[in-house]
Amino acid sequence: MQFIDLNSQYSLLKSKIDSRIQQVLNHGAYINGPEVNELEVRLQEFLNVKNAITCANGTDALVLGLLALDVQQGDLVLCPAFTFFASAEAIAVCGAIPVFVDCDPNNFNMCPVSLEKTILELQARAHAIPEVILTVDLFGLPADYDSITKIAKKYNLKILEDAAQGFGGSINNVKACSFGDISTTSFFPSKPLGCYGDGGAVFTNSDAYAQIIRSLAQHGKGDDKYDNIRIGMNSRLDTIQAAVLLEKLEVFPEEIALRNQIADRYEKLLGDYVTTPVVPKGYISSWAQYTIRSARRETIKSYLAARDIPSMIYYKKCLHQQKAFAELDPDVINPLELKQSVQLSSEVLSLPMHPYVSDENLKTICESVKSSLS
Ligand SMILES: Cc1ncc(COP(=O)(O)O)c(C=O)c1O
Repeated sequence: MQFIDLNSQYSLLKSKIDSRIQQVLNHGAYINGPEVNELEVRLQEFLNVKNAITCANGTDALVLGLLALDVQQGDLVLCPAFTFFASAEAIAVCGAIPVFVDCDPNNFNMCPVSLEKTILELQARAHAIPEVILTVDLFGLPADYDSITKIAKKYNLKILEDAAQGFGGSINNVKACSFGDISTTSFFPSKPLGCYGDGGAVFTNSDAYAQIIRSLAQHGKGDDKYDNIRIGMNSRLDTIQAAVLLEKLEVFPEEIALRNQIADRYEKLLGDYVTTPVVPKGYISSWAQYTIRSARRETIKSYLAARDIPSMIYYKKCLHQQKAFAELDPDVINPLELKQSVQLSSEVLSLPMHPYVSDENLKTICESVKSSLS
């Protein structure tokens, strides 16, 4: 059994993906080939956003977004304490300082109440006012944008949505990757929409931001490649990866529906035994991960491993506990206790999740989780 089964998907799409890749090999435009622009247009249509700018990976996408929002050395950026390292790493790469906000144990995402408390606490301690809220749509569920957007407006903050895991989710039919002033995603192979290498994209309805992001991603280019008007980076999506994504995007809505059916089955079979993830009304998760919570997760994990059932712990450490941030001032980076996030990191366990989990495997996983607890 596989944790994320990319082979089943490839078997289904093989002839189409192979022929798309062959087309790239035939025309030979490996960088900035026609498939890249075709994909960007398709992504704009799919998400209903004005601008999609592809880039080399989801971490670069965050850095490009932060730079376009004019985040500078020493600026404060609010960020959930419970997420993948890259969310805060991108802030640090820009010379800015992450300020960690506690997460809601029901949905794993940034807690809006803690967000406002953190802003007020920074003010009370006479620290700089943050510039940006970096939200994360963790495990595929969009963050609470209704509440977070209100707080952003109240304190005049911009939102950068890290939808590396969230592409395919939505709130009341509005798609993830369109909730931030700027939003980003990752096309890492195991992501809901993944390519066959590294890839990412930045999305925005602002033409002004889009122009800056395109420039930043190509060495700060101006009128042409050899006119450089700002310090940027080299971050492009390879044409072959764009070709793969074009075919995968065709079946993506069906795959999201399949992921949701699998999540429903998990909920029915496991809901009485462990804490299963909550999806608020009107929300759709892309189910990048199906993550349960249990005080006995180590018991469950080793029981599953003994039966060759893969499971993963995302994430064992919160970001404020990472050595990489040890030299930052705790008075700034975690002005409030991050109790819920720490609790989450001791309880979470992600189970196999992809569109092609067979019913037989799903039953085996759930029976094993139940037996491990009995
Ligand atoms: C929440 C989150 N942000 C950012 C990233 C970075 O994406 P990439 O690996 O494409 O750089 C990831 C990747 O796992 C992620 O999960």
